[in-house]
Amino acid sequence: MEEKKDYILETLENDLKQITTEQQLIELKSKYLGKKGLVTELTSNMRELTEEQRREVGAVAGEVRSIVTEKINALSCQIQEKILNEKLEKEKIDISLPSKKVRRGSRHPFHRIIEDVEDFFVSMGYDVVRGPELETDENCFQRLNVPLGHPARDAQDTFYIDEEYLLRTQTSSVQARTMQENQEKTPIRMICPGKVYRRDDDATHSHQFGQVEGLVIDKDISLADLKGTLELFAKKMLGENTRVRFRPSFFPFTEPSVEVDVSCFKCGGTGCPLCKKTGWIEVLGAGMVHPNVLRMGGYDPEVWTGFAFGTGLDRFAMFRYAIPDIRYLYTNDVRFLEQFDRKDEENEVK
Ligand code: DAH
Repeated sequence: MEEKKDYILETLENDLKQITTEQQLIELKSKYLGKKGLVTELTSNMRELTEEQRREVGAVAGEVRSIVTEKINALSCQIQEKILNEKLEKEKIDISLPSKKVRRGSRHPFHRIIEDVEDFFVSMGYDVVRGPELETDENCFQRLNVPLGHPARDAQDTFYIDEEYLLRTQTSSVQARTMQENQEKTPIRMICPGKVYRRDDDATHSHQFGQVEGLVIDKDISLADLKGTLELFAKKMLGENTRVRFRPSFFPFTEPSVEVDVSCFKCGGTGCPLCKKTGWIEVLGAGMVHPNVLRMGGYDPEVWTGFAFGTGLDRFAMFRYAIPDIRYLYTNDVRFLEQFDRKDEENEVK
């Protein structure tokens, strides 16, 4: 028995020296410890032995098994380590190489403005709603007190799709939708930012631009509510020192109607080229919702009153970021768009 033991351990030593790969190690394991392995064979004839012989064989076989297992495991660790080292060597990263430049996107100036507008009105309890850009003549005009043939249609050169459908010229269309959709005829407090389209194209007018519409309907809403709301809005968008001025105007869907000017944020109201030396810049149209509009939306004008306003989002972006041509906002030139992260940082420092 001792001879067998010595033989096994000797051959094992020789075999271990030959092993360099994991596969060879697996084969080696089975040669010694497998079902028909050399160590297992030590106990193959146990049945033919006496009790005492069995005990002796069992003890030696157990000892051999544990020595063999230990040696194989030790070699396995060595081989694993060798493989890992080779891998690390092969996959070495040269950290001194210059990295590939990752181009970082930045939020579009138009969206920065929309987010600010939404934040402000949401904080005052308004809902933000959306409406389709492909709109019906009915929602865009008729339900806003602009019947077919009304001269106010001329002011908004419309892209018509057919007699019934058009590209909305104003987000006011969403006023009509919101009133109709509110089946219970409960109070409304909403803004709708979105794109509108008109047949215009020059440095300050684009065929596509952004507007935000606001509509409040409730009981006992007055012009004072409108004024207070727009004053706060102007301060939020253009700075704390901004003053607001209302001028009488006309819009078919409001009565009375006003045009809203803000004090020039460049010169503070003393007069400069931006405000054409007037000290004021026009930013908004607004007014008290016309009784006809309320009626067509299913609200009894004897019970309900409301105010509405509409403003161009692009102008706010142009003012805030000193953008000279509205068309830059829509041509998606990366060189132009990339500047805005930096500009916001500059503004924050001030
Ligand atoms: N829809 C008007 C425009 O595009 C702006 C406007 C004026 C909206 C008065 C309103 C409003 O809601 O009350 O010129």
